[in-house]
Amino acid sequence: MTMNEAMRVIVTGTGGRLGGAVARHLRLRGHRVVAWDRKAVDLGAPERIDDHFGAAAYDAVVHCAAATSLEWCELNPEEAAVVNAEAAGRIARHCREQGARMVQVSTDYVYDGTVPGLRRECDLLAPCGVYARTKLAGERAVLESGARVVVARVSWVFGPDRPAFPDQLIERARREETCAAIGDKWSTPCYSVDLAEQIEGLLGMEDVEGVFNLGNTGECTWQEYGQAALDLVSEMGIPLRCRTVGAQTLAEMTGFLAPRPVHTAMDLTKLRALGIPARPWREALADYLATYYRGRDGQSAE
Ligand SMILES: NC(=O)c1ccc[n+]([C@@H]2O[C@H](COP(=O)([O-])OP(=O)(O)OC[C@H]3O[C@@H](n4cnc5c(N)ncnc54)[C@H](OP(=O)(O)O)[C@@H]3O)[C@@H](O)[C@H]2O)c1
Repeated sequence: MTMNEAMRVIVTGTGGRLGGAVARHLRLRGHRVVAWDRKAVDLGAPERIDDHFGAAAYDAVVHCAAATSLEWCELNPEEAAVVNAEAAGRIARHCREQGARMVQVSTDYVYDGTVPGLRRECDLLAPCGVYARTKLAGERAVLESGARVVVARVSWVFGPDRPAFPDQLIERARREETCAAIGDKWSTPCYSVDLAEQIEGLLGMEDVEGVFNLGNTGECTWQEYGQAALDLVSEMGIPLRCRTVGAQTLAEMTGFLAPRPVHTAMDLTKLRALGIPARPWREALADYLATYYRGRDGQSAE
């Protein structure tokens, strides 16, 4: 099967930020998509996974669903392991039986985040916290399943399907005089629409398997990410009460139950070597905000 042929694709987590974008993108490209959200298949109930994935016919699965709340995972480690690791392994075994490809979406949080610089796929893994450990266990389960698998590590996803950090910060800056974000933790914001395109690109390459970093290029702190979002909407004429994002430190975040890695921005050389493009995160963020914020109530509200 080549990139131009229509595929039958199951997408999980379609009620979420990435799954929603992937399902829409693949449909727009002419693929036959079955979109499964949590109501359709609860990953916490393994027998439901077998009922669904055992009965359907498909060429590929893009597995976006996961327990993504770091704090929930810390409080519910056993359930997190079932959802993030055991369920992924089960789905992969169904893919093997079907001869289907699988894209397992994973996270930059599996990397050792102690040294500055961009993380490559072959770098040291040192997940800290339950979320990261169960996501790494999920990677291992699918890679060991015998299915044809791509593990797609992504970071700091934003997009139209569910509000993320820039949306929350813009909302706050519209209402309040001050806002702040963490200035000593680095990664790469990734646009769900760009990720969906990259995932389609990988699915179209029959022989490609293994672990890939996906997303946009560059790195920043939460503070820089937030400042870029405020600057961009301000340039679009959206009135803000707060225009400058103040600095917080990770150490000040005493409410965080889960530990966070510090340096996990990713190097996309391996992905780009396949001819799959990746644009700078600021360009992708500008595109998102211009598409979804221009003409919003903001311009006439205040
Ligand atoms: N968001 C990020 O910044 C980020 C960063 C790195 C990696 N990732 C990875 O990217 C993937 C997509 O994340 P996202 O950003 O789209 O997160 P999201 O918006 O939280 O979406 C996750 C989806 O998984 C669903 N889900 C959670 N528990 C489930 C269960 N027991 N059974 C079935 N579905 C369940 C959620 O359902 P509900 O809508 O009902 O909660 C939600 O629709 C995940 O694998 C995540 O680990 C995300």
